[in-house]
Amino acid sequence: MASLLRLENITKKFGGLIAVNNVSLEIQQGEAIAIVGPNGSGKTTLYNVISGVYFPEEGKVIFEGKDITHLPPYKRAPLGIGRTFQIPRPFSSASVRENVAVGAMFGTLSGKVSVDESLQIADRYIDLVGLQAHKDKEAGALTPVEKKLMEIARALAMKPKLLLMDEALAGMHPKDIDEMVALLKKIKEEEGIAIVSMVEHIMRAVVGFAERVVVMHQGAKLCDEPTEQALRDPKVVEVYLGHPPEGSDA
Ligand SMILES: Nc1ncnc2c1ncn2[C@@H]1O[C@H](COP(=O)(O)OP(=O)(O)OP(=O)(O)O)[C@@H](O)[C@H]1O
Ligand SMILES: [Mg+2]
Repeated sequence: MASLLRLENITKKFGGLIAVNNVSLEIQQGEAIAIVGPNGSGKTTLYNVISGVYFPEEGKVIFEGKDITHLPPYKRAPLGIGRTFQIPRPFSSASVRENVAVGAMFGTLSGKVSVDESLQIADRYIDLVGLQAHKDKEAGALTPVEKKLMEIARALAMKPKLLLMDEALAGMHPKDIDEMVALLKKIKEEEGIAIVSMVEHIMRAVVGFAERVVVMHQGAKLCDEPTEQALRDPKVVEVYLGHPPEGSDA
């Protein structure tokens, strides 16, 4: 079966600096992947190449067999590449419901749904992320965690095949992290969406959410393995974890 997303030998430079160095990566439909690595290892740059913020100097981005290497971000969303932002950017004076409905209007259903239908789709995903009680509130009045949930609902309303989450868990309390991980698992199971998340140093989230871990190091892919295996890989322990995970004999 063809991969949902295939990166072929991607290199992205900033002046003389090689931020991503010859990285290849395949993502299948419905997979949950965590991209981790030390600061400056190229995670955000790789993510931006997938979402179209940057075009690589070398290599190809293939989505469902189609070469999208040089397609701008707004043309990737209708194909099924959705994203959330590290810092949510809601339309603050519009309601939560309206904000989420915008996702339906600009995603894979773009041009195929009426405003009413978009609002119905919004209601479904507002329920899924647990924001029912807030749906008529102004988005600007939400707490930071609620804004992240709204951001996820909006991305889901785009009906993506691949959901890219930028630092979905950064700055959250452990309790909120556990709830978010549970939500991501539910989304994966109920919607069959492939989810790629960058999760920084939050190991419990990596273990709780990802089936596969891609470890970046100095712009290159250091490891790409099932989660359990990756956390015990001596290369990963050395550059990323600094010590073996708890309960490990490694
Ligand atoms: N727009 C840019 N212009 C110049 N250099 C950049 C730019 N974006 C990233 N870099 C450099 O590219 C390298 C990779 O950065 P990147 O942001 O992808 O790393 P990261 O793994 O996301 O790091 P962090 O964990 O700190 O978010 C770093 O050396 C960074 O300084
Ligand atoms: Mg980053």
